[in-house]
Amino acid sequence: MDSTVSYREQSPTDPTRPPAAAPGPPESDRWFKATLPRETLTRLSRRTDSEALRRITAYFALLGSFGAVSVLLWIVGSWWFLATYGAYCLVWSFSNATGHEACHYTPFRRLWLNNALLYTNSWMQNWEPVTVRWVHARHHTYTSIVGADAEYLLPNPIKRRDLANLVLGSNHFWNYNKELVQLAFKRPNDTIREAVPVDDLPLTARNARVFLFLYASVIGSCLVLWTPLPVVMLMLPRVVGEPMHGLLRALQHGGLETEAADHRRTTRSMYVSRPLQWLYCNMNFHIEHHMYPMVPFHALPALHSEIKDQLPEPTRGVRAGMVEIVTTMRRQRTDPDYRLPSRVPVGTGQQTERRLRAGPAAVSPARVDSAAVSPATIDTAVDVLCDVEDVPLGDVVGVERGGVRYAVCRTADGAVYAVDDTCTHHSARLSEGVLVGCEIECPMHQGRFDVTSGQATRRPAREPLATHPVEVVAGQIRLRRPPPDFADDHGTAPG
Ligand code: FES
Repeated sequence: MDSTVSYREQSPTDPTRPPAAAPGPPESDRWFKATLPRETLTRLSRRTDSEALRRITAYFALLGSFGAVSVLLWIVGSWWFLATYGAYCLVWSFSNATGHEACHYTPFRRLWLNNALLYTNSWMQNWEPVTVRWVHARHHTYTSIVGADAEYLLPNPIKRRDLANLVLGSNHFWNYNKELVQLAFKRPNDTIREAVPVDDLPLTARNARVFLFLYASVIGSCLVLWTPLPVVMLMLPRVVGEPMHGLLRALQHGGLETEAADHRRTTRSMYVSRPLQWLYCNMNFHIEHHMYPMVPFHALPALHSEIKDQLPEPTRGVRAGMVEIVTTMRRQRTDPDYRLPSRVPVGTGQQTERRLRAGPAAVSPARVDSAAVSPATIDTAVDVLCDVEDVPLGDVVGVERGGVRYAVCRTADGAVYAVDDTCTHHSARLSEGVLVGCEIECPMHQGRFDVTSGQATRRPAREPLATHPVEVVAGQIRLRRPPPDFADDHGTAPG
């Protein structure tokens, strides 16, 4: 993740943002998605706190162990300090991977745990957490679309200087800390102003001040204790460890195509050693992550197994990946348009799972009341969305009726709701997301909406979603039409 690259978007007045409920299919339909049974996706997207707690606890235990040994060796003046400190900085650099995961709200089921992880890792990486979450959303919206992808880090044709900057992180430490100071003084740069909605800016200022205060405390403790050890252990690792994670960042999209609505052509998955995969939170399965970002890190290997036949063969190892990039760079000297040849398996070009049905539509708690609507008043072509049994408990199904797309939700306790099927943040198909309690989670950036009210409950979703009253009649989920005088007064008759 990188918040220092120029981009535009996400302010409430962003002219590039598609209007909510725009006619036609959501923009997310343009992107290729591997065929994956709905039940499998729902299972893989399930959130548990335990998996992430184990992983995060082990990560910090490892980091703490290397840190403690390093401090001891420093105190006794042993040169072995350099070895353990190198390992400590390497592990520290992977706070980038855990922080990235928290950006998506995916590691933990509970929001506060995700946020605690994001804030901790952001401090370790010198990022302001709210900003980086907004910027990273942009990366997923416009992956490798030049001029729009906020994290398009290795432009084609690849230049040696860009590659070196990315791997060494030469500008990152300076740029991130400069941004923190700007935010603390409520003077965010244009990049941040365009990324972060105005009503989130006070929070970014508060966060930046707290972070800077903590950094100043670390520096101050050096003066009090008269040793550089606090800075060496708490601020320098971000710089020393950067090349390892910079290398992995370069490999995510480097040397591949741009402007393609197919993550298999713009993104690289890799097989890497078990320890590296563990540190990297399985982000070596990067195509899989971009295709289904709502799948938590611990389920990415299982997702890879499910869809690997539809994806390019993963690059085997970091070294092989760098050879691909360097080879591309060399070829681009004589042919700037050269890209690595596509490795998309033949015959998988257009396989997409469309959950939207041709025909019926969907929201609001439905009552099972067989006498509620007289059969004579029902326009079955438009008002009947689907059978109740078509929507599994705790799940959501997309339905189209009369040109309107509905996400029909059935909570675990059997209540039925219907909301617009297009996310109000960007333009993703909500019925491809997951239902968590009474909230529907968007598959693109994991924003959430309360399906009982339509209210946006989690960033980056901010605008409410239209809800449509429904009821269950004779085993069918039907739109509940308001009486004519209500429609006249409110003008919101659905369908
Ligand atoms: S499109 Fe961004 S949260 Fe739905």
